[in-house]
Amino acid sequence: MSMSLTELSPPLLKRIAEEAISARAVAHASLSDDAHAALRQKAIDLLRSRNAVLVAHYYVDSELQELAEETQGCVADSLEMARFGLAHTAQTIVVAGVRFMGETAKILSPEKRVLVVDSAAECSLDLGCPAETFSAFCDQHPDRTVVVYANTSAEVKARADWVVTSSIALDLIRDLSDRGEKIIWAPDRYLGDYVRRETGADILLWQGSCIVHEEFKADTLLDLKQRHPEARILVHPESPPSVIELADVVGSTSQLIHASQELDAPLFIVATEEGILHKMRQGAPLKKFVAAPTAGEGATCESCAHCPWMKMNDLQRLVDVLESFENEVILDETVRARAALPISRMIEYAGQRVKRA
Ligand code: 13P
Ligand code: SF4
Repeated sequence: MSMSLTELSPPLLKRIAEEAISARAVAHASLSDDAHAALRQKAIDLLRSRNAVLVAHYYVDSELQELAEETQGCVADSLEMARFGLAHTAQTIVVAGVRFMGETAKILSPEKRVLVVDSAAECSLDLGCPAETFSAFCDQHPDRTVVVYANTSAEVKARADWVVTSSIALDLIRDLSDRGEKIIWAPDRYLGDYVRRETGADILLWQGSCIVHEEFKADTLLDLKQRHPEARILVHPESPPSVIELADVVGSTSQLIHASQELDAPLFIVATEEGILHKMRQGAPLKKFVAAPTAGEGATCESCAHCPWMKMNDLQRLVDVLESFENEVILDETVRARAALPISRMIEYAGQRVKRA
């Protein structure tokens, strides 16, 4: 009997994704420097001739991040990616990230062609929150406001009252709680638990998790901190509470990058996906950045903080989708229109928050 992708467990999916990446890495490594430069130039030319813009997340390979910047696209967190795609005039948006990021771009810009670099690039949070089961869960608690993290499918967003990203989660939940609203939070239980502890809001948690962030280990992080008292610790709130407890700053990807530039310290230990280190090093070249340890007993690497789905995005795939226009994001119009409501609400809320600050 064959199984659909969503029926496979996230760790198994992670292994499948890693095998696919290593096969591609072998093919990529066999390219000569000249062939590689030609491929890069081809991507630049195609972006121009196709009237396309590249929108990349901080977690993708540094090569794609640089290409996005060089071609006047953007490298950003998931909220900024959504805003950038919406505001840009290009007819085609190419998303280098994971599936939900492509879907969000399409939900906001239905008239544009939205392509994803690799349509198999998933996210364990999205996979761990199937729309039907989630909808039934919400139906059991009709008195609660449904708040879902951006890392969810279009169908799950269509069932929500609000979509949030980690950059506005605390503010929004505080505001909803002040208005007396009780909340369902999905899918990330660690982020939801963090928001609950910080705001005291009445939150019912969906039990999803990120397979990358939940691997960070507090005991080895504490050990590293003791050996480097000069270091500051930056933590994404998808990490376990014991890791969050050790943080100097807890925040979204863009908030952590900002902190890495603002804080006066020579060394930063970073508990989020390692692709972010590229941007941090660019922004503060005199400081040192190391990935927080994921190594528990029996681990084969000290920090394996890489998202296998983000790493599916590569130069060859980018060229392929620009040539063929494959991997286009297509959504059911009823679902899209319904999902646009809580996302637009989030963008409006984020805009008002900036004005208030
Ligand atoms: P941000 O919303 O902070 O960009 O995070 C997205 C993500 O996938 C975190 O793992
Ligand atoms: Fe999803 Fe985690 Fe990868 Fe982010 S790092 S895309 S939350 S699996």
